[in-house]
Amino acid sequence: MDEYNQKIAEYYDVTLPYYKFFWSKDKERSAIHYGFWDSDTKSLNDALSNQNKFLADVAGINADDKVLDAGCGVGGSAIWLAKNKGARVVGITISQRQLQKAKKLADLHGVGDEVEFYLTDYTNTKFPNESFDVVWGIESICHAEVKKHFLQEAYRILKIGGRLIVADGFLLREPQSEREKKILQDFLDGFALLNLARVDQFKSAIESVGFTNIKFWDKTKEVEPSSKIMYKKVKLFYPLAKILNFLHIIPDLLIKNNNAGIAQRELLKSGLGGYGVFYAEK
Ligand SMILES: C[S@@+](CC[C@H](N)C(=O)[O-])C[C@H]1O[C@@H](n2cnc3c(N)ncnc32)[C@H](O)[C@@H]1O
Repeated sequence: MDEYNQKIAEYYDVTLPYYKFFWSKDKERSAIHYGFWDSDTKSLNDALSNQNKFLADVAGINADDKVLDAGCGVGGSAIWLAKNKGARVVGITISQRQLQKAKKLADLHGVGDEVEFYLTDYTNTKFPNESFDVVWGIESICHAEVKKHFLQEAYRILKIGGRLIVADGFLLREPQSEREKKILQDFLDGFALLNLARVDQFKSAIESVGFTNIKFWDKTKEVEPSSKIMYKKVKLFYPLAKILNFLHIIPDLLIKNNNAGIAQRELLKSGLGGYGVFYAEK
């Protein structure tokens, strides 16, 4: 694993209990993503499931499909797809701790045979050519230093007619002021990211790899309530986090993570960043 991926792996190994405590406590959802809210959505947990449902519907995932969950976290979406769509799912992550947790959760949900998890880089999976019907990535592809490297690998391992579905944060424009540059940098540093693609750049990269029938949905409004929840939780925890960090009880990484929790709100509010879903076919 290269140095950058090691940092990402460390980030997810360290933050695993915090994500569990502050975000998705519910074993049923176990998601590390924003979630989509509509007028009927009553809770964060429902929003987290809504997002899986939207992506699965757009990609038309069913029991005949073999899905790669590229950057699967603790396996929440993979388990959801196996239970709700009957799909066979392979989840990959670069965090050893997430891998162990994902395997345990799949067994707990009785889908240990339908879902497999591996410690593998999504830019170099070693899976055979044309071995998946769907490649799925929720808030994971943003970590790729060169997004095209993931897209090339996805194209290689998808069958002809296979579907790509990616939900992620994107830049809507380049930062202008020093303040906007700082917001973006805090966001990147605290979430273990090197860059954030602009929507148009990501679309061009998908096209250049050879995908067709590319579609995009702007979901910024639908993640707003989750963005506010994250911001409020971070603000509440911040003073305690500072004390715990001063006492060397929690690492600097978590303070940066808190800063990112604040920056993500400002990123959306300022119109510098947004959230969207890409779909494409091979
Ligand atoms: C924010 S989490 C999202 C997890 C999951 N998709 C979800 O929605 O709950 C990002 C995930 O991307 C994974 N990831 C980052 N870079 C990766 C890479 N090069 N190969 C495989 N997974 C990677 C991390 O290990 C982590 O599981």
